[in-house]
This record gives sequence, structure tokens and C-alpha cells, in this order.
Amino acid sequence: MQLSFHSFSGLVLRALAVLLAIALAGCERPAPEGAAVAPAPPPVPAYVGATYAPVPGRPQPGAAQLAALGRRIFFDASLSASGAQSCASCHDPRHAYGPPNALSVQLGGADGRTPGPRASPSLRYLETLAAFSEHHHDNDGDDSIDAGPTGGHMWDGRADSAHAQAALPLLSPAEMANASVEAVAHKLERAAYADEMRAAFGDDLFKDKDGVAAFRAASLALEVFQQSPADFYPFTSKFDAVLRGQQKLDAAEARGLKLFNAPDKGNCAACHISERTADGAFPLFTDFGMIALGVPRHRGLAANADPAFHDLGLCGPIRTDLQDHPAYCGLFRTPSLRNVAVRQAFFHNGVFHSLEEAVRFYAQRDSAPGRWYARDARGRTVLFDDLPAQFHGNINTEPPFGRHRGGKPALSEAEIRDVVAFLKTLTDADQLPPPSNSTSASISTGMSKGSSARPTALRAWLPTSGP
Ligand code: HEC
Ligand code: HEC
Repeated sequence: MQLSFHSFSGLVLRALAVLLAIALAGCERPAPEGAAVAPAPPPVPAYVGATYAPVPGRPQPGAAQLAALGRRIFFDASLSASGAQSCASCHDPRHAYGPPNALSVQLGGADGRTPGPRASPSLRYLETLAAFSEHHHDNDGDDSIDAGPTGGHMWDGRADSAHAQAALPLLSPAEMANASVEAVAHKLERAAYADEMRAAFGDDLFKDKDGVAAFRAASLALEVFQQSPADFYPFTSKFDAVLRGQQKLDAAEARGLKLFNAPDKGNCAACHISERTADGAFPLFTDFGMIALGVPRHRGLAANADPAFHDLGLCGPIRTDLQDHPAYCGLFRTPSLRNVAVRQAFFHNGVFHSLEEAVRFYAQRDSAPGRWYARDARGRTVLFDDLPAQFHGNINTEPPFGRHRGGKPALSEAEIRDVVAFLKTLTDADQLPPPSNSTSASISTGMSKGSSARPTALRAWLPTSGP
């Protein structure tokens, strides 16, 4: 089943082009003497082909109507094959729309036991996330600097928008595991809010045989819901209050912010932007850039039971369009650090379970690699053990990285505590107090029950012929 929103807009465009051609054909006559150039055809209105473009003869749902509908869909577990999983199971509003537990990866699928390949991200603060681009130019007046691959939804940027993205979990065998677009449409038709969907999109919404109209409607509603400010970008953290001049950082938090920004110390702000934008928007603590950090291999993940398997992010194998770009292997999108303190699993593979440990990894990756990476049969540390050696050149070596092996770490233990104290000021007001993270556990060795090595699980989330 192939569902493409782009082909839908393409159809609209082609239909318009045909109409235009017919209309123009009617006025073909020799140009009068002296008229050098024929008048240009009227420009196609900007909304034509846009996702939200009105469709002739259809009701045009308003944003509030779509957001309300999207909220119902987001929390509707009946839309999963297991009947037990909604979007909120992995993106819980009580956890800043991130995972509700300490599992490295959440379990899903028809049996509710299939481990996904990656950690669930928070869905907050994605409102300005643009579609993936290989050559990103900052909007800061200097167009000459190519910041490289940037943006797109998912850890590897493979979904262009939240509505294109919605198709993935609904149909992914490791997530909501519906067999087809049609199956989802069927469930929507039986949902308590089916009449609201008809009111918003037309009485015949569920009439088409392949279910594309209803599926597309649900995707749009989900996307609009995910743009609701109070839910998804409230900007109510202590740090926001500080930016508004309403509160002050305490001493440890202030030291942490300094270390976070200092180019020769944490240098975190180089990627996790901490300053207001030129036009005054509050920082999102990400530039959405794609970077290879050399995060340790997570040996507890089902997919990694096969030593030959590597999640290489931008170059595949989950993302499929850039597999012939070796320079992209190991790159993942920089996440926002807003609400990071409510997480209990960090990085794309959820390999760390405490924020201190995630920050310590930055401080000591190069000074004490033996602490982070596995050893080979002869007891030597295998550097960057989740990335085949031919891609090691892709790994970032700017500060805080690039320290000598055996030398001083970029941040001391006290400084790590300060950075963590600062990161906790990025938690939105509506979030429960952060769970008490254990600082003793370093790399998790096992996962939850049900996710033990099952090589067949690997196939469950590698790309299928789906959208
Ligand atoms: C079984 C857990 C699970 C369920 C259920 C689930 N997701 Fe996700 N979601 C994930 C994971 C894991 C990722 C990251 C996947 C990747 O990078 O390949 C993700 C990524 C996303 C992203 C991209 C975020 C970003 O930072 O780019 C969005 C948006 C999203 N999910 C929305 C949804 C919606 C809407 C639903 C319901 C239709 C849903 N998810 C259901 C686990 C889940
Ligand atoms: C060169 C860019 C870059 C710099 C500098 C950087 N980060 Fe990151 N950060 C990333 C990327 C990319 C990821 C995701 C990598 C992955 O999962 O493979 C990430 C992930 C994280 C995470 C995990 C978040 C989550 O949702 O799982 C934390 C915590 C974090 N960074 C904190 C920091 C801190 C603290 C510093 C400074 C000491 C820092 N980062 C410096 C790019 C950067």
C-alpha cells in the first residue's frame, strides 16, 4: 500500500494544469501586431497543492476542530492492532510527550511485545522543525555557511512533516501495527468520534474503498493537534521565566549554564542552542542538525543481537534514501534538551538511563573511552563500538570532545552536576518532578522482559513497502 500526500497534491496540480490548458486553448489567436510578448499565464495561487488547501466541494475544517479531533485520535488505543496502544503510550503528556518509563525502547506491535529500534522522542518543541535538507543555511544573514544535513522528523529526519510521520507508527509492525491504511480507516469509522470526522471532512469520508481519505484526515488532525501551544510548546520552564526576567537561576544552575555555553568546556550550545533567536524567539535547545556522536552500542537491544547490524541513522538501514552516502553514517538529529530531565533513557538507542551519565559521556568520551565502549577478545577498547571503522571519520571531535586519551575530561564531576542542575531548569511547569534517576548504572546491559534477543524482531521494523 503506497500512500503519498505528495502524489495527492500532484494530482490537484495536474488537474489544474489541464483546466488551465483547456481555458488557454480557447483564447489562442494570432498576437496583434506590435504586441511583442504574450501575457504570462496567471500565477498558480500559493495554496494550490498545499496540505491544507481547500478541496472544492468539501467542508474546510478549522484549526480548533482539527486539534480537538487530533487529540481524540492521539489518545485512542483502539487504533492499534493490539487495541492497547495509542500514540500517548510512547508519547505520554505526563512525560512531556516522551516515554513514560525507563525502557530504552518501547514495546509495541500486534502482541504489544515487539521492541522498537529506537528511543521514543519527546514531541514537544518540534513546531519549527522544517523538512529534512542536506544543505541547511541558517537564517542569520550569512547564506554562505552550509550547516549540512538538518531537520526532518524522526531521529534520522526521514519524515518530512508530522502528518507524513503519523503514517509510520500507525502502520509500523513494531508500533501500532495496523496491516494497512484501510484497516486504520475501518477503525476510525467505528471510533466514538467518527461523526466529528464526518462533520469536519464530509459525510462521505469513509466511503472510499482504500480508506485513504479517512487516513489522510486523521493524519492532518494529528498534525494540527501536535501544533497546540499549551500541549506542545508551552515555554513554562524555569529557564523561560528567567528569560522573561521573572526568576533567577541559583548558583549551581548559573554555573551550569556557563559551562553549557563555554566553547572550551561543555560547548553544548553549539548544537543545543541556548540563546534567543535574532527575532526574539525563545531557544529550543537544538539546531536540528545531524551529528555523529559515537554513542555506545546498546547490547540489550533486540536488533543488536545480530553483531553485524548497526543503526547508522541518516545512511540507513531504517532510512532508505541516503544509503549510498557513507559520510552520513552514524548521524542522528540533535534533539531538543527541553524537558530532557523527565526522560529516563537517553540518545537514539536509549543506552543511558541517567542524565548525569549522558553528560558524563560527553565529558569523558575521548579521555576515558574504556568507560564507554566494549572490549575485544584481547581486552582492548573498541572505540565507537556501534559504528563500523570506515565511518569513524564522521564522528564529531569538536569540544567537549577531542580530549587526549588518559587526559583531563572536558568537565569535572562537580561541573557535570552543575550542567545537570541547569538542564533541570528546562523542564516545563506542567511536568511532574523528574523521576529520581540512579547515577550508579552506566550502560544498561539488559532490557525489559519480552525484548530479549529475538532476531525476527529485527525484520519487524526494517522498512517494508509501506509509506
Ligand atoms: C511503540 C511506541 C510508539 C508509538 C505507539 C508511537 N510512537 Fe511516535 N515515535 C516512537 C519512536 C521510537 C520514534 C522515533 C523513531 C525513529 O527515529 O525512527 C517516534 C517518533 C515520532 C515523531 C517524530 C518526532 C521527532 O522528534 O522527529 C512523531 C511526530 C511521532 N512519533 C508521533 C507519533 C504519533 C502521532 C503516534 C500515534 C499515531 C505515535 N507517534 C505512536 C515511538 C512510538
Ligand atoms: C556537535 C553537536 C552537539 C554538541 C556539541 C552537544 N550535543 Fe547533545 N546531542 C547531539 C546529538 C546529535 C544528539 C543525539 C545523538 C544520538 O542519539 O545519537 C544529542 C543528544 C543529547 C542528549 C540526549 C537527549 C535525548 O533526548 O535522548 C543529551 C542529554 C545531550 N545531548 C546533552 C548535551 C550536553 C550537556 C552537551 C554539552 C556537554 C551536548 N549535548 C553537546 C548533538 C550535540
